[in-house]
Amino acid sequence: MKKKLAVFASGTGSNFEFIAKEITKGTVDGEIEILVCDKPGAEVIEKAESLSIPVWTFDAKLYPSKQSYETEILLKLREIGVEWIILAGYMRLVGPTLLSAFENRIVNIHPSLLPAFPGKDAIGQALDAGVKLTGVTIHFVDAGMDTGKIIEQEAVRIESQDDRLTLQKRIQAIEHELFPKTIQALLTSIPREEINS
Ligand code: GAR
Repeated sequence: MKKKLAVFASGTGSNFEFIAKEITKGTVDGEIEILVCDKPGAEVIEKAESLSIPVWTFDAKLYPSKQSYETEILLKLREIGVEWIILAGYMRLVGPTLLSAFENRIVNIHPSLLPAFPGKDAIGQALDAGVKLTGVTIHFVDAGMDTGKIIEQEAVRIESQDDRLTLQKRIQAIEHELFPKTIQALLTSIPREEINS
């Protein structure tokens, strides 16, 4: 049976698009039930709408706390039976409300070889640090900033002529392949009973 996914995103949504594409091809055994977006007007919203995927947008500033908007999100996700949360460029820390409801079922992608360069602008951080190797990490989400258990990583070499744009392009090409594959592995390898125990 297809697993019910919620994708959370804040920006362009290229990863969202590639996950949706692989679902259509049948290589990811899931269904995106909802896109949750914290940036009204983000490009990812149009992408979801063009694929007829329901969208729920919120503006965190209009809520008194993280707990209050996450409680609203949680109600929505429960209403539609979401089993996994996929963070695809969601630029917010997840709080205890969602973490406890989806223990070991929230997955994030990050454009560095964690634990190096967590947080914002990981690509810029790697360039500024002058490292020769960076990459992509997919990990379970915990309360920290990009600190959860690592599921998958792939390295990308930084060439001397790289700037933010050229490096981002190579990193994202890897993300677009690695994220759907890893999601599929997770969806098919962990029995529900085990996740909930
Ligand atoms: C991706 O590169 C993802 O790794 C990164 O945001 C980008 C979103 O791109 N996530 C983080 O930096 C999380 N800390 P997209 O909107 O085109 O998928």
